[in-house]
Amino acid sequence: MQALHLRDARFRYKGSTAWALDGVSLDVEKGEFVTILGANGSGKSTICLMSNGLVPHALPGDLEGTAEVFGLDVRSHPVTELATKVGIIFQEPESQLFCMSVEEEVAFGPENLAVPSDEIRERVEWALELVGMEGYNDRSPFSLSGGQKQRVAIAAALSMRPDMLVLDEPAYALDPVGRVELYQVLKGLKEHHGMTVLLAECDSEEAAKYSDKVALMKDGRVISYGKPRDVLGDPERLRALGVTPPQVSEVSALLKERLEGADFSFISVDEAERAINEKFTNRKRGREQ
Ligand SMILES: Nc1ncnc2c1ncn2[C@@H]1O[C@H](COP(=O)(O)OP(=O)(O)OP(=O)(O)O)[C@@H](O)[C@H]1O
Ligand SMILES: [Mg+2]
Repeated sequence: MQALHLRDARFRYKGSTAWALDGVSLDVEKGEFVTILGANGSGKSTICLMSNGLVPHALPGDLEGTAEVFGLDVRSHPVTELATKVGIIFQEPESQLFCMSVEEEVAFGPENLAVPSDEIRERVEWALELVGMEGYNDRSPFSLSGGQKQRVAIAAALSMRPDMLVLDEPAYALDPVGRVELYQVLKGLKEHHGMTVLLAECDSEEAAKYSDKVALMKDGRVISYGKPRDVLGDPERLRALGVTPPQVSEVSALLKERLEGADFSFISVDEAERAINEKFTNRKRGREQ
């Protein structure tokens, strides 16, 4: 059973004639870190919203095809049930924080599920530690930086003990330091806690570095899905799709063009270092022979 299983899924928001999702097939396996990349309006948020049932329950419309979350059809299971499996985090940290203190914020979800207070306290401490915000219990969420707010929002989702986190452009409003901290937290959750992470982004820099798989979207369809290096290797193609390519892949394209016979195609600094070392060590060896 997959964490998310979409097969020929089509969705059209009520009152709209165009299909926001126009035949999407996408499988996210448990424990995977998957990034959805695509231009504005390509359907990223609609997939995120579908993953905890907000589409089609809170945002109605016509839904066709298969759309299952941990084996549950999103049509026949309410958001309250899906929300116990999927925690969702949005673009604007402010829009999802509303309590007077960080602790209240993180305790809010389990309190609503009538979880015993001892366990709530445990969950709050556990979740704050996972996102590196331990000791901030009494702070007002509004006194925090954007990155810290996003990490509190993640802690609030984690306190519901979900099996999957879905994040819709969570780093959009963050500075570079906030971005790195956010992605490090997500990486830790995946690697040490087996968390399934599904993320929507317009920028492929982090997608290249952290994802197991990348789904490239265009006009409500997934046009390419696979390992980052297979999907993100062609900067021209990404730009044409409205996605910012990884900076280092531009260097790779330039080297390929300028260096005769060089078959460079890297998408991360680590890969670049390996490829360049290999290339020039081989050349040197060739001359020595
Ligand atoms: N509530 C809504 N009602 C009607 N149409 C909507 C609604 N939300 C999104 N759409 C439409 O559905 C399509 C997909 O939108 P979606 O928000 O999923 O794209 P996106 O990839 O997340 O875009 P962005 O990068 O701008 O966030 C777009 O054509 C959009 O206009
Ligand atoms: Mg969106």
